[in-house]
Amino acid sequence: MSVVGLLDAVGLIVGVGMMIPALMPEKPPDPQATTTVNIGVGLHGNPGNRDPLDYKGDTPTITLYDQLGTLVGRSGSEGHVKAGGVVEMAIAHEKDMGGVKSEYMAVAASGDDAICIQYITTLWPDQESWGFLGDVGTLCDADWYYSDNVVANFDSSSQEPQSQLNRSSNCIWVDQNGSNHFRFQGFSFHILDFSSSKDADTDGRAKQYHDQPATMCKSDPRFKSWPKISKDTVIPIFYDLIHYNSDNSDLDPKAVLDKKRWCYKDKHTKNKNGCSSTPPSKREARASSSNPAPPFMAGTVVKSHHGDHNATHLCNSKTSKGPDFVSLSEGVFCDMEKKQVWPLCSKEVAIGCFDVETNKMRPGPHGRRDSEGRRIPFKSYHKEIRWGGGI
Ligand SMILES: *[C@@H]1O[C@H](CO)[C@@H](O)[C@H](O)[C@H]1NC(C)=O
Ligand SMILES: *[C@@H]1O[C@H](CO)[C@@H](O)[C@H](O)[C@H]1NC(C)=O
Ligand SMILES: *[C@@H]1O[C@H](CO)[C@@H](O)[C@H](O)[C@H]1NC(C)=O
Repeated sequence: MSVVGLLDAVGLIVGVGMMIPALMPEKPPDPQATTTVNIGVGLHGNPGNRDPLDYKGDTPTITLYDQLGTLVGRSGSEGHVKAGGVVEMAIAHEKDMGGVKSEYMAVAASGDDAICIQYITTLWPDQESWGFLGDVGTLCDADWYYSDNVVANFDSSSQEPQSQLNRSSNCIWVDQNGSNHFRFQGFSFHILDFSSSKDADTDGRAKQYHDQPATMCKSDPRFKSWPKISKDTVIPIFYDLIHYNSDNSDLDPKAVLDKKRWCYKDKHTKNKNGCSSTPPSKREARASSSNPAPPFMAGTVVKSHHGDHNATHLCNSKTSKGPDFVSLSEGVFCDMEKKQVWPLCSKEVAIGCFDVETNKMRPGPHGRRDSEGRRIPFKSYHKEIRWGGGI
């Protein structure tokens, strides 16, 4: 198990990926004007093996925009990042964009090697920092999977015990080329909207996203997955600045969903602020509806001890993608191919169950049907991956 220490102060809220901005250190603004972006990549969990889930991949291109959608800076080519690794990118600001605070980020896959992004942190020139967890992708129907990496999510200024805030947050798959059956090349988001300065019980933003997920997932400036995205893609921003209550929830949750308030920067439009309310390209690609398992994952099973890893939840999600999965804490096996859950074999359950010793499904007295008539699949693996401690 590896623990990633995120920034100085990060807090995670009720299953919604959020972290709090670090308290501002007393430090003069960076005269060089760079914004530092860290990308954490999901970990496969088999240090001895060669990244069997292929979580490693091409480092995505990061583009930063300010409050008005003006380009602040863009990362260069960063090559490969390995699974469980972190890439730190110091993004130099454009001329005249000195100490500007980047409010929006576009993340675009830069090559044919898919990666699964677990978290992103952003450090402004004034040293204020922000976080984003892959869990957002799970809630907002991106392609996702679990990860073995434990992200230390805690608020260092809090007196509360920190242990239960450490989580192995999920990761979001991005890939430039559909050969792996991933649907999205990248995503964009409003950097300010995924952090919290309060704990889970009092954080209004977490509660709002939980109660009204559309205010997170259907507000394109806030978060959007892109079937096609390149460095020139114009991402939407909020045309009217959005306003927050003191607990971080939206003052007007309807406003963030109002397309008339979204702005696509368009040099050619005569509208105020150079905003167009429709994307410059009407031919925006649609995500393909077919959702087969990525071919490179056949023959692999993951067995996880992490309490956060719920095989039923993984199986119930239409957009989860990855190998077959065993949650040892839950006692459930998820057949990712059919998205069917099965119990693990035990004293009580001896047939129609997944045997963690042999990694096979046990047939019943009526052959390959269970008592409900479900077909019991054949399973065979050449690779087993263990997460979160020995079995
Ligand atoms: C996608 O990537 C794979 C693996 O690198 C490559 O073999 C294939 O030719 C690529 N396809 C396209 C359409 O670029
Ligand atoms: C949670 O993470 C913090 C920071 O890395 C660490 O000090 C603490 O021991 C972790 N707690 C558990 C239960 O792993
Ligand atoms: C796993 O998820 C399912 C469905 O969301 C839920 O009913 C169940 O209580 C969860 N189990 C655990 C151990 O958290």
